[in-house]
Amino acid sequence: MRKKIIVGNWKMNNNLSYTEFFLKQIIKNFSIKQLSKIEIGIAIPFPFLFIAKNIVKEYPINIFAQNIHYMDYGAYTGEVSANMLISINIKNIIIGHSERRFFFNENNNILLKKINLAIDKKFKRIIFCIGENEYERKTKQYLTVIKEQIINTIFKINKINNSRISKIIIAYEPVWAIGSGKTANPNQIEEIHYYIRDILNKELDYTISNNIRIIYGGSINNKNIDYIMHINNVDGLLIGNYSLLYEQYIQIIYKYL
Ligand code: PGA
Repeated sequence: MRKKIIVGNWKMNNNLSYTEFFLKQIIKNFSIKQLSKIEIGIAIPFPFLFIAKNIVKEYPINIFAQNIHYMDYGAYTGEVSANMLISINIKNIIIGHSERRFFFNENNNILLKKINLAIDKKFKRIIFCIGENEYERKTKQYLTVIKEQIINTIFKINKINNSRISKIIIAYEPVWAIGSGKTANPNQIEEIHYYIRDILNKELDYTISNNIRIIYGGSINNKNIDYIMHINNVDGLLIGNYSLLYEQYIQIIYKYL
């Protein structure tokens, strides 16, 4: 059984005092037992990761970073390495968010390097985002695009075996649905999640592919969250805007207790 996971992605939002307040509210509202029913995560901006991790250290709340560089160290002004994150005990990461691909030109080659590094460094949860843009959806190329994204990254991971690849969580995030208020409809989500699972099952040993979770992201809100979470093959959610306020995040957690 794949455990469901819900991760909030704050992107470049919120500040230090709100980060502390947010996490303390979550801890105040739930017991450890409640928080353990599903996996809960929050992807927080770099400057607040250290404090966030310390606040939640006794609780099953998984703090994620939103990016890493693919090199270990060196002259890469403005970048953050996996080793730096490990030194503050952050072992969960998002790789390949469509905003990274679009605004920072991260292509599949770069992303594969990041995935391999995160696996080598023994990150525990590696959310890897894929998804088609609006043009690719409209011109019905979306299945090909998604397949290529997987073939050029996941299937090229070094030394594929169960313990290495089970850390990967694939996030299907149609680019046209991110931050746009246009959620994919249940049929579209079911189609793609089934398709991704089928690609994984055909290429990888079943004991390996079956461990990879496939989560959905893109304009999730209080109106659509219930049905999206229950669509076949949806193992969890990656939530942007709707995860920014603590009241909303608490409501999300309540749904799964
Ligand atoms: P959104 O973002 O929920 O604001 O659409 C989702 C994401 O980018 O992960």
